[in-house]
Parts: sequence; C-alpha cells; structure tokens
Amino acid sequence: MYLLGIETSCDETAASVILDNLEILSDVVLSQDEIHASYGGVVPELASRQHIATISFVVEECLRRAQVKVQDIDAYGVTQGPGLIGSLLVGLSYAKGLAYYFKKPLIPVDHLEAHIESVFLENRKVSLPAVALLVSGGHTSAFFMKKRLDYQLLGKTRDDAAGEALDKIAKFLELGYPGGPVIDRLAEKADPRAFRFGLPQMTDRSLDFSFSGLKTAALMKIREAKISKKHPRFNDFIASFEQAIIRALLSNLDRTVKAYKPSSLILCGGVARNKKLRIQFEEFAQKRSLASYIPSPKLCTDNAAMVAALALEKLKRQKITSFPLDLNAYPRGTSYMK
Ligand code: KG4
Ligand code: ZN
Repeated sequence: MYLLGIETSCDETAASVILDNLEILSDVVLSQDEIHASYGGVVPELASRQHIATISFVVEECLRRAQVKVQDIDAYGVTQGPGLIGSLLVGLSYAKGLAYYFKKPLIPVDHLEAHIESVFLENRKVSLPAVALLVSGGHTSAFFMKKRLDYQLLGKTRDDAAGEALDKIAKFLELGYPGGPVIDRLAEKADPRAFRFGLPQMTDRSLDFSFSGLKTAALMKIREAKISKKHPRFNDFIASFEQAIIRALLSNLDRTVKAYKPSSLILCGGVARNKKLRIQFEEFAQKRSLASYIPSPKLCTDNAAMVAALALEKLKRQKITSFPLDLNAYPRGTSYMK
C-alpha cells in the first residue's frame, strides 16, 4: 500500500510517499527560505503563491524518486491545519483534486499531531503514556499522550514560540532567516554562561510557556552591551540566549513530568534539530529514568513523511472523521486534540 503525504502549512512545499510498513520511499521538501530571507520572516502571500508555483513539481518529483505511478497511490494524507490559511489551501486543494480524480481516500491531518507522529515513523515501540514537547517556529506546546492518536494539550505558549524567539533575535542581529540553525551553529563552541537570563515563570502555575520576556531581555542586553557581530563575545551572547530558551523548555518539562508521570518523553518540531537541546533533553530523560525519543533532524522540520505516517495510522485504525471534498483548512487551534 502506498500513501502520498502533502504538507504546505507554512513555507515548505513537501510531498512524501511511504509504504504501509512505514518505509519512506521518498521525502521531498522544497524550502522557500531564500524567498522570505530578505524580509526576516515568512510573508504569507508570497508563501501561498510559491506553493501554487511548485506543488506539481514537488509531487511529481516525489513520485519519481519513489518510483511509483500516481495511479498506484492508495490513499492521500494532507495537512489541514494549523498554519497559514493561503498556504494550507494550496496543499489541501491539490490533494482533494488527486483523491477525487483517482477515487482514493483523502485523510486530513493536524500539523502538530504530524510532528509528534514523526517519532513513530522511526520507533515502532514507543512506551506510552508519553509527554510530547513540540517546539517549532509556530508552536511550543506540551501534550500528554495516553495512547496512539490520543493527545491532551497540557500547555502552550502564551506569546512567541521558541523558534520564533530565536528567529526574531537572529533577525535583529542580522543573522538571516531562519535564525535557529545559525544560532545553533554559532553557539556550538561558545560559553552559554557568559550572559545571564532569568527563567520565565507563570504566575498562575499553569504549564503554559512564554518566550517574549526572554526576547525583550535579549534586546535590552543587546542595547546595553552594544552586542553586534563585531562584539568579542558575540557567540557567547548567542549561546547564552539559546541556553535560556533550552532552560525555559526543560524547566517547564520538569513540572509537567512531575504532574503527569509519563513513562517516556518525546521532543519534536523544527527546534528539536538544535544540537544542545537534543543533548540536554536526553540527559533530562536519563536522569529521571525515562525513555526519550527525538526524530532524526530531517524529520524534525516540516516534511510530508510525518503527514503520510499519521494519515496511515488513522486509516489503519479507522479513526477517520470523513473523506469529504468540502473539507476546509483551519489556521489556528486543532481539530482533533481535546
Ligand atoms: O517545525 P518547523 O519546520 O516549522 C513550523 O511548524 O514552525 O520549525 C521551524 C523552526 C524555525 O523557527 C527555525 O529557526 C527552527 O525551527 N530551527 C531551529 C533549528 N533548525 C530549525 N532552531 C534551533 N536550532 C536548529 N538547528
Ligand atoms: Zn511544523
């Protein structure tokens, strides 16, 4: 059985063919980074126009690499939301067209659920219940997963997502877009204790996250210490800010673990590519004798293999709400997560 996944929720046009044993036959991701770089962030109108221009090419290339004919695809999975509405509609409409023409099931999936699913693509036996920490450019959320396809939202960011905070500070320091990978690289051999940042605290003791305070603190330090690329401790500043974000994530995770007592921890989303976060997340889990799972870097950032995998899982379990052609995209929130 061949599953074709399509993902266009933000600024990556992605398509992937997987088999029902979860083998990835092809995984094509066409990034729009170059288009948005000069703006320092994603321009929604440019993103959707670019998806329209490239979606056919990306799907054809993905089928070619998988050596599968489009008429042999057994089911389609597509991201329905959340994301940029114009971008989502391109992938959704394209998938609807294919499913309708070839009379094959169309399985809409949630982008956040798909990020979590990327762990199941590479690990057949994930011990549950798990706490999943999803850290991306658009979201920073923690979920409690009692069993497969069952997600309880425990906390989410009240302002910026972690990736967004990294991207914004990188933009301010003229490091280009997306800033996360540049910060990761610059921080690698630098001193994360050089500049002190506080720990964001929720006054109502909720499990929500907040990163705008750290961002403001970083901007103040940049002004006070005249931080620029020419500053002798520039990389140390970057490493300190990166560490402040990691510390905030893991401190929240500590409270979450104490409250929910999971048997494993999942880290996913684009920021899960960050080298220091990966190491510290694993150490965090080891210290508490918990199993930990992080997808390989390629599957952390937006891709369509995770979309196809989630569609397959829903198809197998018949947890499919519908196959309707009047399916609509949703920009915010989640449709299935309670
Ligand atoms: O999951 P993703 O591809 O898209 C969203 O759903 O948002 O995540 C993109 C985010 C961006 O903020 C980017 O800067 C960040 O992931 N990112 C990283 C790294 N690679 C990507 N952040 C830190 N370190 C990295 N190596
Ligand atoms: Zn994403």
